[in-house]
Amino acid sequence: MGKYDFNSVIDRSHSDAIKYCELNKWFDADNLLPMWIADMDFCVCPEITEALQRRISHRVYGYASTPCDFFPTIADWLRRRHEFETTPEEMTYIPGIVKGIGFVINRFCKPGDKIVIQPPVYHPFKRLIEGNDCVVLNNPLLRYEESYEMDVDGLEEIIRREHPRMMILCNPHNPIGIQWSRETLGRVADICAEEGVIVVSDEIHGDLMLGGKPHIPYLSVSENARRTGIMLGAPSKTFNVPGLVSSWCVIKDEAMRKSFFEWMENNEFNAPTCFATIGTIAAYNHGEEWLGEALEYIQDNIDYVTEELKRISDGRIKVYRPQASFLIWLDCRGLGMNHEQLMHFFIKDAKLALNDGAMFGTEGEGFMRMNVATPRSVIDESLSRIGHALAGCKVKEKA
Ligand SMILES: Cc1ncc(COP(=O)(O)O)c(C=O)c1O
Repeated sequence: MGKYDFNSVIDRSHSDAIKYCELNKWFDADNLLPMWIADMDFCVCPEITEALQRRISHRVYGYASTPCDFFPTIADWLRRRHEFETTPEEMTYIPGIVKGIGFVINRFCKPGDKIVIQPPVYHPFKRLIEGNDCVVLNNPLLRYEESYEMDVDGLEEIIRREHPRMMILCNPHNPIGIQWSRETLGRVADICAEEGVIVVSDEIHGDLMLGGKPHIPYLSVSENARRTGIMLGAPSKTFNVPGLVSSWCVIKDEAMRKSFFEWMENNEFNAPTCFATIGTIAAYNHGEEWLGEALEYIQDNIDYVTEELKRISDGRIKVYRPQASFLIWLDCRGLGMNHEQLMHFFIKDAKLALNDGAMFGTEGEGFMRMNVATPRSVIDESLSRIGHALAGCKVKEKA
């Protein structure tokens, strides 16, 4: 028995949580068990709540200055956790990773510029590129029986042929939970340095490595990575605080840093709320033990879901086991359903809200993404619903 409770089911239905309150908007149904958008159903570590409560009880919420321990606390965390060295001068606050990528595109790209992504991948990347009048270049991952790999030869070919301005790297990769190896990242850096491509490395899942495996920050792999890279990270996934809207960006290359940081400053996009900084500092300083226990709980859930899905589906639903994070990639092609039938199966028959694999790119068709950062009893309920749906017996609607 650990120090923290991950088993209690917290009622999130009246907390404006997207996961619970936007079921109708995204699934056209409100009676679903939500296992989609990537936040956890767990309470945060108490020190975060206490730090926020202390600030709230002050009762004056004027313009907030960034506390002087904000960047040193993040730098200290990166050193402790990932043996990655940076300094406060190399960092800026950003109000979220997606917004951060949007800022980087706005600062460094002009309309018509090409940007590489590697589907199936976190779906807002495509929207960010197209929404800023740039052009998506897809370099799909290579799928194998047990895992996926980056198509580095394909990447080299597309970069040399199409001359993109930028690449958005997902490291670790959502939705499959892959931590790219040092060798792979090194090759990406070499190709991009040679061709003058900026690499935006989204490392939001980097603190959530499973089984004691190390996270490899892109900027740590070589001089070429430090020349080309913009690293984005956050306490949001790690400590379940995305609602505080706190993220950070590290740039090693001086010219790129100066250009981006000054632009951020001029637009005041680098100005955090007082709650963002207070929650972040408390999380990085006091959350490590909580994180250790949360990762063990998540790993147990992944093992359990893998075994149970294999059993109840007779191997027709297969799990791609993640190396990082709490999202698991379900290969449902063995069910023999087309896309419409698969959606019907999960939403109408099993009454579950999972992410449709196709939203991560056409390569994701036939797959679903399931969020398992939830109490075991919820996992059990979801498995039971899948079991009933597979048996052709519709899940009864809640009274
Ligand atoms: C790879 C990746 N990047 C970014 C985000 C979202 O980050 P933010 O809420 O800080 O914009 C997510 C959330 O699921 C994600 O998986």
